[in-house]
Amino acid sequence: MTHSQQGGIEHIMATEARIPVPEAFAQQANVTAEQYREWYRESVESPDTFWDARARDFHWFTPYTQVLDWQPPFARWFVGGETNLSYNALDRHVEAGRGDKRALVWEGEGGDVREYSYAQLLEEVARTAAALTRLGVKKGDRVTIYLPMIPEATISMLACARIGAPHSVVFGGFAAGAVADRLMASGSEFVITADGGWRKGELVPLKPAVDEAARLAAAQGQPVRGVLVVQHAGQNIPMQPGRDHWWHEARGEDTQEAVPVDSEHPLFLLYTSGSTGKPKGILHTTGGYMVNVALTTHAIFDLKDSDLFWCTADVGWITGHSYSTYGPLLLGQSIFMYEGAHNHPDWGRFWDMVERHRITVLYTAPTAIRSFMRHGDETPAQYDLSSLRLLGSVGEPINPQAWHWYRRVIGGDRCPVVDTWWQTETGAVMLTTLPGVHAAEPGTAGVPMFGIVPAILNQQGEELPADEGGFLTIRQPWPSMLRTVYGDDERFRRSYYGEIEGVYFAGDGARRSEDGYVTVLGRVDDVLNVSGHRLSTAEVESALVAHPQVAEAAVVGRPDEMKGESIFAFVLPQEGETPDAAELRAYVSRQLGKVARPDHIVVAPALPKTRSGKIMRRFLRQIAAGRTIEGDTSTLDDPGVLKRLAETPVQ
Ligand code: WT7
Repeated sequence: MTHSQQGGIEHIMATEARIPVPEAFAQQANVTAEQYREWYRESVESPDTFWDARARDFHWFTPYTQVLDWQPPFARWFVGGETNLSYNALDRHVEAGRGDKRALVWEGEGGDVREYSYAQLLEEVARTAAALTRLGVKKGDRVTIYLPMIPEATISMLACARIGAPHSVVFGGFAAGAVADRLMASGSEFVITADGGWRKGELVPLKPAVDEAARLAAAQGQPVRGVLVVQHAGQNIPMQPGRDHWWHEARGEDTQEAVPVDSEHPLFLLYTSGSTGKPKGILHTTGGYMVNVALTTHAIFDLKDSDLFWCTADVGWITGHSYSTYGPLLLGQSIFMYEGAHNHPDWGRFWDMVERHRITVLYTAPTAIRSFMRHGDETPAQYDLSSLRLLGSVGEPINPQAWHWYRRVIGGDRCPVVDTWWQTETGAVMLTTLPGVHAAEPGTAGVPMFGIVPAILNQQGEELPADEGGFLTIRQPWPSMLRTVYGDDERFRRSYYGEIEGVYFAGDGARRSEDGYVTVLGRVDDVLNVSGHRLSTAEVESALVAHPQVAEAAVVGRPDEMKGESIFAFVLPQEGETPDAAELRAYVSRQLGKVARPDHIVVAPALPKTRSGKIMRRFLRQIAAGRTIEGDTSTLDDPGVLKRLAETPVQ
């Protein structure tokens, strides 16, 4: 691997002996060892037959005529078919007599609980879809959703899907500037938001950010035409007549049927960071996403009628799309959803909810697991966690220590733990162990899911031998793969199929064991993973250089025990200026949101550059990590810079 980040990840990526599948779990698992073997072989050798069989579980208004049309790098799945995701996630179950089945259990930070059966959720979605239609939303129109984790977020996504209006969910933790960028990039004229949300007992003001974003977008010639506002936080907020409508007033009793859409009709856009400053609008379409998200949920999370599944991811991320929302609902199973912070009012909040609601399957992020671990075993020990039967991890590499703690303290040594590797772009889990099939190796994601053909390659595209680190790539198309970068096919081709000819390049490094277990080593590009949140160094840099006292900025990741990576910024001031670190943090926060706020700032006397002026981030990463400088410094214009930088205080 060429990337210098590798050295920083190795220390957490030592892998360990495998932990066998609990026999009791294997006995009842949705997917058995034999089925995995057979299905995997078929999915790779005859993908058309395999995926056709999976797609038949769903309702198609018009049957497809071809399973896959692959014109690399462009794929079309279930060609000619017409379906609707909202119909398959709701109406289908109600029509099958399962309307009384619990669909969604929600708990607010303040402790209020709401429950929806499938029949009730369908009605809410159908009424919201009717309201959106009345607002002027048409099939194909992009709708921006900027909401807290409340049932209306789930309802809004499904309502958009119902009328074929692709949603673009923007994480509620992002600031107005990020909302504005996404509004403009997606050409979205409609927004669904709330008067506010709750986090750690404090109000998160969402509507003011929408107003500001709408103002910025209008100034660029792209006005927002309609805003639906959920009354959630009891705030008295200004409403712009003609544009803003209260959710509870805009929705009547009338309902909207699911509209048949082409299998390749856009289901949603989700903006995520790439290696450059401008977030990419990852486009997912309907049929293929539906089929693979449902299949992976069934196989990995093993959901049954007796389960209550809690995927803790916010709907602002892909995990919140595929596993907090669509996957479990497509299977007709029950979802748990929580609005607030994981440590409010104290560190027992998660475990209290597991006990009270009898949650059975929990899927969360290493960063949360590590923070619980830091607060000791005593807190979870006070709660009855015996309802749990399966645990999952996602978002970043999980260090073996956290893995073991999760299994022992939360899983009572009886629950299998699955470490799922995937991306916004892949739509669904790609690598994991199946809980009733594969022994788990702490620190190693595992084996490929159905239809996924991973290859560890070097830069020349040659397959590397077992145990050697290289680029993680995927050889064949899969149904839930991104279709393009919204509005930029060329960027799609370049970013994902340009690095190594003919294969999907994930941006991660990995190695594979002799028997096919893949260990993901982390990003090999300029993408940061901070507490499981994806950010590009360039995004943070451009936010910093927008500050009048900043001439140049270079941002790198620094290995962090809690967050996985923290943000380390080297800032070169404008001549004669001394920017204040606290002010710079607040400045970045205001533009991009708290998640992007630099943890460490060095106001640098100079930056290490080559003679041609390129910043050598390799050395900056070493300085940020407090390591001794390694590598050839002779290409630097002024090698003395490194020593001066290392001696500058970190703020
Ligand atoms: C990047 C994708 C879809 C999951 C949520 C994040 C890292 C994700 C793992 C894992 C090691 C992981 C990768 C990947 N990542 N899961 N189990 N082990 N790394 O989605 O924001 O699109 O980020 O997260 O680096 O490329 P995302």
